[in-house]
Amino acid sequence: MITRRDFYCWGTNLLGGLITLGLAVPGVGYLLDPLLRGRPRAGGYRPVTRLGELPEGVPRVFAVIEAREDAWVTYPQEPVGSAWLVRQPEGAAVPVVAYTAECPHLGCAVSLAEGGRGFLCPCHQSRFDLQGRPLNAVPPRGMDRLDVQLSDDSDPVVLVRFQRFRTASQEKIPRV
Ligand code: FES
Repeated sequence: MITRRDFYCWGTNLLGGLITLGLAVPGVGYLLDPLLRGRPRAGGYRPVTRLGELPEGVPRVFAVIEAREDAWVTYPQEPVGSAWLVRQPEGAAVPVVAYTAECPHLGCAVSLAEGGRGFLCPCHQSRFDLQGRPLNAVPPRGMDRLDVQLSDDSDPVVLVRFQRFRTASQEKIPRV
């Protein structure tokens, strides 16, 4: 026989349990959200400039703007790095070549060498030609190429997939 006291006791426990469950659901959902959404998006192709803005054979540097995203947060658009673009001659297999501006030696920003006939890193004097090949023994490898696509417009947009690579390594190894 259930006494009134037992009934109130069970009822109170049941009500407390339901309230606790109601409060726990959003918290559990928040913690599981990254798993339910899958892995964070990898860096995609970002618009950098228009093909018509690039003079043939003259390197131009551009900031790559991206909205970063980790498991819980999407950050506002901000520069994530810089890329040197070199428009290739008419009829070349690829219309634009892109290199990350991060020096493969220790990661300083690579500049245009005097006269614009190659690249120079001011930190320890790495030098590269316009094809990104090393011209001295300082850098462990050439400048790192980035993937490029063009949009389908009549004045195509140059899209670059920005990536970072390990420095001080002879191999081009993406950093994650
Ligand atoms: S970081 Fe560029 S030469 Fe050392």
